[in-house]
Amino acid sequence: MPHLQTKRILLGVTGGVAAYKAAELTRLLVKAGADVRVVMTEAATHFVTPLTFQALSGKPVLTQLWDAGADNGMAHIDFSRDVDALLIAPASADFIAKLVHGVADDLLSTLCLARACQLFVAPAMNRQMWDNPATRRNIAQLRADGVTLLGPASGAQACGETGPGRMLEPDELLSLLTASLQPKSLAGKRVLVTAGPTIEAIDPVRALTNMSSGKMGYAVAQAAQAAGAEVVLVSGPTCLTAPANVQLVAVRSAADMAAAVDAALGGVDIFISVAAVADYRPAQPSEQKLKKSDAPLTLALLPNPDILADVASRADAPFCVGFAAESKNLLAYGEAKRQRKRLPLIVVNRVQDALGSDDNELWLLDDAGSHALARADKLTLACQLIDHIANLYSLQKQG
Ligand code: PMT
Repeated sequence: MPHLQTKRILLGVTGGVAAYKAAELTRLLVKAGADVRVVMTEAATHFVTPLTFQALSGKPVLTQLWDAGADNGMAHIDFSRDVDALLIAPASADFIAKLVHGVADDLLSTLCLARACQLFVAPAMNRQMWDNPATRRNIAQLRADGVTLLGPASGAQACGETGPGRMLEPDELLSLLTASLQPKSLAGKRVLVTAGPTIEAIDPVRALTNMSSGKMGYAVAQAAQAAGAEVVLVSGPTCLTAPANVQLVAVRSAADMAAAVDAALGGVDIFISVAAVADYRPAQPSEQKLKKSDAPLTLALLPNPDILADVASRADAPFCVGFAAESKNLLAYGEAKRQRKRLPLIVVNRVQDALGSDDNELWLLDDAGSHALARADKLTLACQLIDHIANLYSLQKQG
């Protein structure tokens, strides 16, 4: 369950086709427990009616500076004072330009200027508008002003073109907002995360590897960063972009990963080993491409170093968290791994559910037993896992 139960969100909707997705976003935010108030620009009302947002949020929708119905006539200031976050979705190129220049000529832009909370912006526009130097400058300025950009994604656009500028999907916006609003339970802590597969070369073109996409590990890194930690992410090859404000160290083989972990370990408080490290590597990788023949090929394999077990056995070991992907006897096999590697916590997931997917289901095994985390997207689960880790870590430090 996303942690938005006590959060008050002001959702600003500006004029763009993606305004229809803001209706679904409102529904998801309310479902996640947030108290949502919607403010629309005049342009937005040409795409979706205020009544839609009123029905979904359960609150009157404000559109005009002059009829903002707050008790003291100060709605243009009050509504963004008392909230945990102001999210503009979709944010048109025009509205972004207004934000950059501090223009306050309607209710939503005035609320943005008068806000006392974090501002999140989910851009949505045609790819050429997104690539225009004026927009590039405006986006850079928003970032410099401390505004959090959510997206945009790249893909098919309403105008029929393809490229960057698509608003993120409502469920992605919900996950990113949820992560950003988590308590800063790891403030001041240094967290090291491994993610993705490793690649063990057989020859210059062939390799042993596995199906890890890196999604779970990247989500854990993002959740730790959102919880206030300084995060280093050591990752095998993936197609993913590192989360913002996370230091990425890209590696290929298990030996590379072991060396990168060793180099990054100084001052680390928590080590979370999500990577699917290849257990074996070819004993003698060939420098030249092996020639195909009709004869059977036997590869001699050597076991790779167990990075997590090695870190956990150090005298000055950080708080170590392992992952275990199992296809049967999940809890028994997971607990056996936890004991063998002497870990305070191991996270068990089902191979069939976890590898490459966007959603997952987790079981956290620690000294107190097993805690199930219901199926959800990986970032939501990662936030819940980080909460659990922060609690265990602080208990360990107290005891
Ligand atoms: O990347 P995704 O597609 O999102 O998939 C996520 C995942 C399935 C890879 C992830 O959730 C997961 O379960 N990772 C651990 C996979 C696994 O089963 O690892 P293992 O049983 O081989 O190792 C147990 C633990 O020791 C893991 O924390 C692993 O990172 C670590 N290990 C293992 C071998 C090794 N040589 N060095 C290690 O550090």
